[in-house]
Formats: sequence, structure tokens, C-alpha cells
Amino acid sequence: MQTILITGGAGYIGSHIVKLLGERGYNILVYDNLSSGHEWAVLFGRLIRGDILDFAGLSRVFNENDIAAVIQLAAYISVPESIQQPLEYYLNNVSGTINLLKVMGEYGVSKMIFSSSAAVYGIPPHTPVNETSELRPINPYGRSKAMVEQVLQDLSNARDFKYVALRYFNVAGADPGGSIGEGKEDAAHLITASVRTAVGKKAFLNIYGNDYPTRDGSCVRDYIHVEDLAYAHLLSLEHLLEGGDSRIYNCGYGHGYSVLEVMETVRRVTGAPIPVRQLERRKGDPPELVADTKRIKAELHWRPLHDDLEDIVETAWRWELKYQSKTLK
Ligand SMILES: NC(=O)c1ccc[n+]([C@@H]2O[C@H](COP(=O)([O-])OP(=O)(O)OC[C@H]3O[C@@H](n4cnc5c(N)ncnc54)[C@H](O)[C@@H]3O)[C@@H](O)[C@H]2O)c1
Repeated sequence: MQTILITGGAGYIGSHIVKLLGERGYNILVYDNLSSGHEWAVLFGRLIRGDILDFAGLSRVFNENDIAAVIQLAAYISVPESIQQPLEYYLNNVSGTINLLKVMGEYGVSKMIFSSSAAVYGIPPHTPVNETSELRPINPYGRSKAMVEQVLQDLSNARDFKYVALRYFNVAGADPGGSIGEGKEDAAHLITASVRTAVGKKAFLNIYGNDYPTRDGSCVRDYIHVEDLAYAHLLSLEHLLEGGDSRIYNCGYGHGYSVLEVMETVRRVTGAPIPVRQLERRKGDPPELVADTKRIKAELHWRPLHDDLEDIVETAWRWELKYQSKTLK
């Protein structure tokens, strides 16, 4: 049986994709250096500890397995860190993916789903932003994703290679069954930080800027439940395995919530007060970033099941309670 290789599959998003594909009967191989992922998060398939920068290590994996397609999530993901350490980000995110593509080429594997990001849009002139908008990333993290997208496009022009680049907006929530969720101690995303404040792990929540031209002065973002995002990967995989062409899709819900609205929801769901610390605007935060999602709905018939902020917060909260009470290794 052919195998789906999931690089970075022990991480937050990857582990939800592994679970969904595993439940659908796919044969899965996870390749992850565990720099931020966890062994406990891999619920299906086999985990190989390895680095995408290791050409020989990757070659062994392709030599020993019949790989039909690769889902490439392995990357560093912090915008502020990327500004401090651009070389590490370009090396891991760009060179790492090129290395993987080279090995794929040597073994005749010609299908990849790539984790891109809304960060490729930078500060778009209008929102909702669609896939044809110009890419104007404003930090090394966003540029690393845009560079890989360019490499994928060039490669698909040069030879028989097909890819789906999924531009994730703000990914949040956890497995509704409570078996997996965000496991990074330093995860900085708003909903994770809020529920960690609710469980008392953080003393307060930082809010950046209160004078944006939005309905309440705080930034507006499009939050997508990680399980709906995993489903977008399943559909993208089926598309490629059925011989479909290269595509680029936004992954969000097409509407946004402000930071204050998210916090109110977290307060309501958790019953915790969530103390906040109001700070100045952060450089490079667009006031509003919302996905135009018409394309993925029309072409892949993607239909979200968790398009509800309470649902997202509740699953994140349930996971956080469990995660705090257990030592998961
Ligand atoms: N979380 C979000 O909101 C979001 C938004 C847009 C895009 N993304 C992208 O989605 C992907 C997954 O993000 P996540 O939130 O699950 O992060 P994560 O850090 O939980 O997952 C990344 C995984 O990749 C592994 N990894 C990193 N470098 C590696 C390397 N050189 N070799 C092998 N494994 C390596 C890590 O150990 C980790 O398991 C990333 O590519 C990220 O850029 C995430």
C-alpha cells in the first residue's frame, strides 16, 4: 500500500492531519525532528525522527517506502523570531523544503501539499483577500513561505510535478475528542494564549494596539479550526492523487473576529476573568486579515464543520485543561 509522508507531522497542525488521514485508512509515515513536535501527538502511522535538511536521511526514507505524496509542514513558525534569526528561517523553511523536493525528484515522487500562510499577503490593500492578490510579505517568515511557493510554481512548470499550496489563516482549536492539541510551550497565538491565561498558566494576556480602524480598535483575524484545516488537506490530497493540477487555496472561514471579541468569548466559555495588558501596536500587524474562501469551496467542495468561535475556543480550552493536568511526553 502506498504511503503518505507527512513532514512536520508531530506538530500541532500536522498531528491533526495524521489523525484524520489515519482514520480514513491512509498509510502514514511521519518524519519530524521533534524540535517543536511531540511523539505523543502522532496517533497513527510510524514516526521517524529526522530533519528535512538531512538529504541522506530523507533518501533512506524514500528508498525504503513507496511514497505517493508528501504533506510538508516542517518549518519554524514565529514571525518575531524570524526577524531576529532570518538565516535560520530561510535555511529551515526554504532550504529544507528544497532539499525535500530534490529527494522527491530523485525517487520520482511528484505530489506535494505545502503549508503556506496568510503571511504571504503582508498588509493587503483590501480584505477579504483572494488568492490572486499580490504577495507582499513583510517579514522573513512570510517571505520564506512566498519563496517556497515560487519554487513550487517553477518546479511544476519545469517537470511533471503537482502541488497544492494551502495558505492558512489563524489556526486554532483542538481535536474535539481531546486527544491532541497545541503542545508548544511558547505558542503565541491569541486563542492558545487566552485559554492558557484562563487556566492560570499565564498571568495576563498581551493585547497589541487599541486604535486600529476596526469595529472596536483591536485587530481582526480569520480563525479556522484545526480540524477543518486538516479536512482541507484530505481534499487536497485526494485532488492530487486523482491526477488534479497544481492549486493554491486560502484556508479560513471568510469572516473575522476582533481580539476583544475573542477575549469575550474566552471569558464566556471558560468563566475565567482573563486579565489583559494593553500594549502599543506591533509593527507589521495589518488591522484586518480575512480570507476570501470561494475558491476552495467551489473547487474542492470544502465545507467547514466548526465555523463557530465558541466551538473553537471550547475545544482549545478542553485540550488545555487536559494538557495542563498531564505530563505528556
Ligand atoms: N499555526 C498557524 O496558525 C499557522 C498559520 C499559517 C501557517 N502555518 C504553517 O503550518 C505548519 C505547521 O505549523 P504548526 O503550528 O503545526 O507548528 P509546529 O511547530 O507545531 O509544527 C511544525 C513541525 O515541524 C517540525 N520541524 C520543524 N523543522 C523541522 C525540520 N527541519 N525537519 C523536520 N521536522 C521539522 C517540528 O518539530 C514540528 O513538529 C508550518 O509550516 C507553519 O508555518 C501555521
